[in-house]
Amino acid sequence: MIRFSGFLILVLFAVLTFQCQSEQEIKREQYITEGILIYKNNCANCHQTKGQGLASLYPPIAASDYLSSKKDVICLIRYGLHGPIVVNGKSYNRPMPPQPQLSDLEVAELVTYIYNEWGGETKLTDVKEVTPVLQQCKQ
Ligand code: HEC
Repeated sequence: MIRFSGFLILVLFAVLTFQCQSEQEIKREQYITEGILIYKNNCANCHQTKGQGLASLYPPIAASDYLSSKKDVICLIRYGLHGPIVVNGKSYNRPMPPQPQLSDLEVAELVTYIYNEWGGETKLTDVKEVTPVLQQCKQ
């Protein structure tokens, strides 16, 4: 009897874990769906639909070495970026305008999309992680 209820607890635990994971997965997919739209409407003009950038004017986001600091990416989306930078060995020096119209949630959706599509991640960047970063950005 004790063994049997032990087994039941194990099954229950497995079911709960599985449910949690699939909730995260659903959320990740929702973020990505929204992120694609936000990217098209706010970023693709310059960085292009496939994130490949445009000549020496706009740097690529796809496979960009700049993605190694997610905090910097979160901050530059809201506050823009200016001054010379090097992306994948190439120099760029044009101002990127700030995007204050995007909410914290929209920034999180965008970052989830970018990192899943072009940064080799398969996970959600939750708005709960993004808000504290945005509050700490130096302007
Ligand atoms: C008006 C054109 C323009 C728009 C719109 C724009 N960017 Fe940029 N972005 C730039 C430029 C120019 C730079 C390089 C800035 C510099 O040289 O300091 C840059 C840099 C970046 C970088 C860091 C370098 C790299 O390529 O990895 C990221 C990430 C980025 N932008 C993401 C975005 C996202 C996401 C959006 C949409 C919310 C966006 N940008 C909208 C022009 C733009």
